[in-house]
Amino acid sequence: PITPVILSGGAGTRLWPLSTAATPKQMLRLAGELTMLQATAARVADRARFAGPVVVANAAHADAIEAQLAAIGCPPDALVLEPAGRNTAPAIALAALAAPDALLLVMPSDHVIGDVDAFRAAIDRAAPLAEQDWLVTFGITPERPETGFGYIRLGDALAEGVHRVDRFVEKPPRADAERMVREGGYAWNGGIFLFRAQAYLDALAVHAPAMRDAVAAAMDGAQRSGCRVLPDPASFGASPADSIDYAVLEKAERVAVVPVAMAWSDVGSWDAVHGLGTPDGQGNVLSGAVVALDSADCMIRSDGPTVAALGVSDLIVVATRDQVLILPRGRSQEVKQLLDAVRARE
Ligand code: GDD
Ligand code: MG
Repeated sequence: PITPVILSGGAGTRLWPLSTAATPKQMLRLAGELTMLQATAARVADRARFAGPVVVANAAHADAIEAQLAAIGCPPDALVLEPAGRNTAPAIALAALAAPDALLLVMPSDHVIGDVDAFRAAIDRAAPLAEQDWLVTFGITPERPETGFGYIRLGDALAEGVHRVDRFVEKPPRADAERMVREGGYAWNGGIFLFRAQAYLDALAVHAPAMRDAVAAAMDGAQRSGCRVLPDPASFGASPADSIDYAVLEKAERVAVVPVAMAWSDVGSWDAVHGLGTPDGQGNVLSGAVVALDSADCMIRSDGPTVAALGVSDLIVVATRDQVLILPRGRSQEVKQLLDAVRARE
């Protein structure tokens, strides 16, 4: 079986005021009944194909993560708690050392995949290559010149539906993103990977030896209780911080990509959340204590007070108990700057 690795790291600010350091995006119910963390675990809950997940997370979220996964009957095989975030390359190394003989399916905890059958079929295409020590990435067909993603240029076909990676272009400037979408032959890096734990650790030893050594020392000195693994803080803190993209994938030799259309979204903004919702007859996506009259094409969500709207259109409104965000649709990428201004005033 394949061992799922679920990364629950980043404390996103783009879905403020709902996402906070204590309750980041992956722990929220943004689309449907499940939180994104729960949906990620549920996608790989078939125990005939997948082992129980290894979750790598910020230590501060341990209790919440255990509770959310218990609630859907998917307890982790291991919950590896990072004493401090060192980005994805060390986080994945912790998982690889926790399950060194496994084939690992690495997944962010905060993405939506609408077509799970397509995802599973892509895993089937990737598995034979991963067994042969390829580091396999999953490539999403680009829909717009997004500058917040990595791009993968597809190289020669290695098998049906699998290509060698020609090169990575991480977070390109706007003009380059536009050119790549226009030219074709590129996929977005979905941040989802399949490889043998040992293949990843070997690549790390070549391309990031200091990181490999620091993480190995952290796991040698780890404390364990139940499913929880607490790597040694001093050793882990000594690891360089870097993403798997920069530290390993851009440099390694045997890197492949499986292009897949699976209705993927990284839910990176309130506009993206609006796009995931089911609009009513006026194009509004409303949730919580919300009343809207003579209003159209709005996303209004309240996790706190009653929100009542009249005669407005194309607005995003998000209310929590303490804060209310209001902006026109199409500008939610700027929430980060707005939050900076809010914090400067506090
Ligand atoms: N456990 C753990 N620890 N998880 C982490 C850490 C960490 O230190 N840092 C990030 N993560 C998790 C995040 O929670 C997220 O689920 C995933 O790893 C990716 O990290 P991001 O910080 O969101 O990366 P990004 O959005 O800048 O870029 C990556 O993802 C894009 C797709 O969403 C890159 O892989 C891009 O190339 C890719 O296109
Ligand atoms: Mg991201």
